[in-house]
Amino acid sequence: MLGEIANLPVARTAQALRAQVRSWRMEGLRVALTPTMGALHDGHLTLLDVARGPGRADKVAASIFVNPTQFAAGEDFDTYPRDEARDAAMLAASGCDLLYAPSPDQMYPDGFATEVRVTGLTDLLCGAARPGHFDGVALVVSKLLIQAEADVAVFGEKDWQQLAVIRRLAWDLDIPTDILGAPVLREADGLAMSSRNRYLSQPQRAVAPVLHRRLRLAASEIIGGADPTAACAAAASGLLADGFESVDYLEARTADSLALIETAPPPTQSRLFAAARLGRARLIDNVPIEAEAASKAL
Ligand code: PAF
Repeated sequence: MLGEIANLPVARTAQALRAQVRSWRMEGLRVALTPTMGALHDGHLTLLDVARGPGRADKVAASIFVNPTQFAAGEDFDTYPRDEARDAAMLAASGCDLLYAPSPDQMYPDGFATEVRVTGLTDLLCGAARPGHFDGVALVVSKLLIQAEADVAVFGEKDWQQLAVIRRLAWDLDIPTDILGAPVLREADGLAMSSRNRYLSQPQRAVAPVLHRRLRLAASEIIGGADPTAACAAAASGLLADGFESVDYLEARTADSLALIETAPPPTQSRLFAAARLGRARLIDNVPIEAEAASKAL
């Protein structure tokens, strides 16, 4: 049974979600799922735009679930911003057809005992900096994909590694949902949109766009023939000099298998990845290492 919030139909259980998706599919409509943790910003709305692209989906369901299993002790699970009414209004205004907002008890009832783990891809970058994080993501995304039975699901490319992990698990588990990426949406000064940007104080917000600038500069140096390891090390030192408190990683890797690139020239389809801390915020970003990105670097 569906409820309603801000004129948007809401499913609170997997059964209600699946019944609605199945009924759309019985009418011959294609359905997309756009999973989120709420605290929506315009970047999330691009997930819906990608979902509605030609031949993709006629109906879009967005999920909002702050997933406890992907937060480690001491991370921001308790303080993660939650405002369902505001999020629902944003989704309704952008033409979303259904909100799926299950409770933690619905997703993880007493006795829940299953784990989902994608090996390899999760040992590096954010996986190394946040042990267990991707196990929680893999678990909840597997559940969401199985619950929704959607034709396509869309995830943001800002979390490039997460997207790679999700593609892997959908393939490995024969989940018949096409996994699509949505390009990073940036503020005018280049900062990638993120729910956690609201943790930044005003002075920190002024420093934050440097993350993207340093990545682009390093990409342009690598395209120009610089040693990737040296360019990444210089960019990381630059971030610290600019005011970031620490850099979890800043590395060049291949786009699909995330293999480390240590020598020039980089293979085609390679990217720079970074995570760095500024006050309460841990910012992540990634850029392609390609001539076009390099030309806009400075
Ligand atoms: O990217 C996110 O918002 C979350 O990691 C996701 C994919 C919704 C799983 O909780």
